[in-house]
Amino acid sequence: MKPNANAPAAGTRPEGAGNDVEASRRVRELFGAIAPRYDLLNHLLSFSCDRLWRWRAARRVGRALRARARVLDLCCGTGDLAFALEDEAKRQGGGAQIVAADFVPAMLVRARRKAAERSSGAGFVAADALHLPFPDASFDLVALAFGFRNLANYAKGIAELRRVLRPEGVLAILEFGEPPGRLFGGLYRFYFQRILPAIGGWVSGSRSAYGYLPASVARFPSPEELTLQLRAAGFASVQFERWSAGIVAFHLAERPAAPRQGRPELGAASGETDLTLRPSEGWMS
Ligand SMILES: C[S@@+](CC[C@H](N)C(=O)[O-])C[C@H]1O[C@@H](n2cnc3c(N)ncnc32)[C@H](O)[C@@H]1O
Repeated sequence: MKPNANAPAAGTRPEGAGNDVEASRRVRELFGAIAPRYDLLNHLLSFSCDRLWRWRAARRVGRALRARARVLDLCCGTGDLAFALEDEAKRQGGGAQIVAADFVPAMLVRARRKAAERSSGAGFVAADALHLPFPDASFDLVALAFGFRNLANYAKGIAELRRVLRPEGVLAILEFGEPPGRLFGGLYRFYFQRILPAIGGWVSGSRSAYGYLPASVARFPSPEELTLQLRAAGFASVQFERWSAGIVAFHLAERPAAPRQGRPELGAASGETDLTLRPSEGWMS
């Protein structure tokens, strides 16, 4: 049977990767190659907006960080989201326990060095997001910044995220999007597809890694499609908002409470279609 060209992608596929195993291996190689220049290029190529986006994401999950919350920053890279969450947890006065995980050792080395420099209490562990080494219901909050897009199998990733969240735990996903509109969208695409890969390839020494970035974003499901996938996987209160004219999208979802008898879970079968973000949701600040 022919694959449906309009169906959302099942997972990332860097050039030359034919299946999930090859895609994961290639993603590991790509991020391993750019780890030494990763922070510099992030700040340079995003004009430091990356810091603002992570900070804003941490603020948006502020309530989930209260009262000794157990938090996972997954696909943590060099740890900047974990540090933003830690700062926000301190602001909330809660003393959250933050664990951050990635499957590229060179990223973790840098993350641990940064953690030592800032006396962070976050712990950094090597783990594959598709096979997490944590028991069921381990976390109150799982957050990812610019990592989910790189998973070789989105459905499997979502199932793992759901598994390690406790009932009523919160999932936050920050990802790149594609700004709509001719003028800004066109300018942005020119920058993102032409200028960014050239500068990134030159500074990092890995042309393929910075060619992969726009290709992976183009392949990634739209915020609406990801919303449907999260709902189909049994998440509730799924919503998103576009930031910075759609350059990034911020998704929030909740693992439903264990169903009481006679009361079905919200989610896959609920038929919800309202994608509007409601800032009054209990766990958001
Ligand atoms: C674009 S970086 C984002 C890093 C960090 N979260 C940030 O905000 O800068 C993507 C990270 O996801 C990691 N990653 C990709 N697939 C992964 C997987 N299956 N398991 C664990 N980490 C993964 C990569 O190693 C890389 O460090």
